[in-house]
Amino acid sequence: MGRVLSVASECVPLLKTGGLADVVGALPQALAGQGWEMRVLMPAYPSVLPQISGWPEVWAESDLFGGAGRVVAGQVAGISILLLDAPHLYDREGGPYSGPMGDWPDNSIRFAALSWAGAAIAREGLQDGWRPDVLHAHDWQAGLAPAYLAYSGASVPSVMTVHNIAFQGFAPASQLAALRLPAQHYHPDALEYFGGLSSLKAGLITASKITTVSPSYAGELRRAEFGMGLQGVLTARAADVSGILNGVDTAVWSPETGAHPYSARAPKGKAHARTALCTELGLDVPGPLAIIVSRLTDQKGIDLIPLVAAEFLAAGGGLAVLGSGDPGLEAQMRALEAQYPGRVAVSIGYDEDLSQRMFAGGDAVLVPSRFEPCGLTQMYGLRYGTLPVVAAVGGLADTVITANPAAVSAGVATGISFHPTDAAAFGLALQQLIRLYADRKIWAQMMRNAMRHPVGWEESAARYAALYAGLVA
Ligand code: ADP
Ligand code: GLC
Repeated sequence: MGRVLSVASECVPLLKTGGLADVVGALPQALAGQGWEMRVLMPAYPSVLPQISGWPEVWAESDLFGGAGRVVAGQVAGISILLLDAPHLYDREGGPYSGPMGDWPDNSIRFAALSWAGAAIAREGLQDGWRPDVLHAHDWQAGLAPAYLAYSGASVPSVMTVHNIAFQGFAPASQLAALRLPAQHYHPDALEYFGGLSSLKAGLITASKITTVSPSYAGELRRAEFGMGLQGVLTARAADVSGILNGVDTAVWSPETGAHPYSARAPKGKAHARTALCTELGLDVPGPLAIIVSRLTDQKGIDLIPLVAAEFLAAGGGLAVLGSGDPGLEAQMRALEAQYPGRVAVSIGYDEDLSQRMFAGGDAVLVPSRFEPCGLTQMYGLRYGTLPVVAAVGGLADTVITANPAAVSAGVATGISFHPTDAAAFGLALQQLIRLYADRKIWAQMMRNAMRHPVGWEESAARYAALYAGLVA
């Protein structure tokens, strides 16, 4: 069995702020089926500390960026976890990236330490004798791991995966030495980034291979509109970039395991799930009930919802929103609920159980993102026959077959996609949703198509396995 060290800032079930954690937590099991043993290295945040007691120490460094650091090893939910215990960096109240006053000011150092430990483990192995064949770094928090590895002259290959290029790990150039980066590599073709440093750029420059989480996003990243400053780097390395779609855990995300089970073959239970959800949320909706489960941010296009709501609701639609994030967007969602009682229900917060009831009971899931590296909720929607209405970007474009006349007559449509991401195109897509929902025959066919569309990990795990195999060959 080949061995991979996966380095990331979050991992389900230990800590999650977004889809990154789902993917990092799913890969070990998916890859085990492909003959690769993966261990996940992440920081020992306070919320995960209780897990560590009794875990053996497998790596240590007395001065890990200003204090002692050690790695302990254990199993959580079948995943081999390596926790980097460095209290001076991670033992703080608040989120993984921010505290009550906003982002932690030493984030670049905090995640440089994670990357440093990852590179050291890849180079020297653990005290228990385990040594990876490949280092796999996720997003900017692990971006320096391939760089430390490359600059140390080690021959261990590395993969850098971009889950979201909007977050780049920018640091001022004055931190070069503090981040333990070699000054001779501070130039535009390597570490320099708009007069400073970016740990993501460092990873993109130095990793053996680059992946992102959908084929479309891999192409989009070469354009200024989506590359967010790094398009030149991605273009220069195009031969080493590939897009591998995320999967979802089809055991967890399954309409067959809810309170009102149903399947593609026996879809009846969905009507019961819908009735139960409407009762729970106080909704009475004659047309399609659209759901949104999302971080409430600019990326997700949430600000477009108030612009399209009136027309959609007037045509019989309903809306159930679950999310949290930008306070302004939270307020906009609450205002919508107050304006349309019985037709719009808004839950501010994070609630996985409620999200599953929403996927089971909803008719459609709305994902009007401005950019979306992959996106998981449209895939949950497919799985539950809760048809995705998505902006045609990134992974959304790669996973939904839009109900254009050709796809409808060929009987293959699974949802609706629209372009560009603006209120006009989104509004038209919602009108189409109203029309399709009224045509029970086409709707039933689309539901069947969606529920049969494969969204598991098998194919993508095989692609990661092939990528690793190519690197160690
Ligand atoms: P991103 O990582 O950009 O937020 P993804 O679609 O990849 O987008 O992943 C988001 C994940 O977080 C999904 O599993 C989604 O169901 C979940 N999620 C987002 N907001 C909430 C919420 N308020 N309650 C429950 N789950 C949520
Ligand atoms: C990021 C992206 C999302 C993707 C997730 C997991 O959070 O915004 O599109 O699904 O990472 O790769």
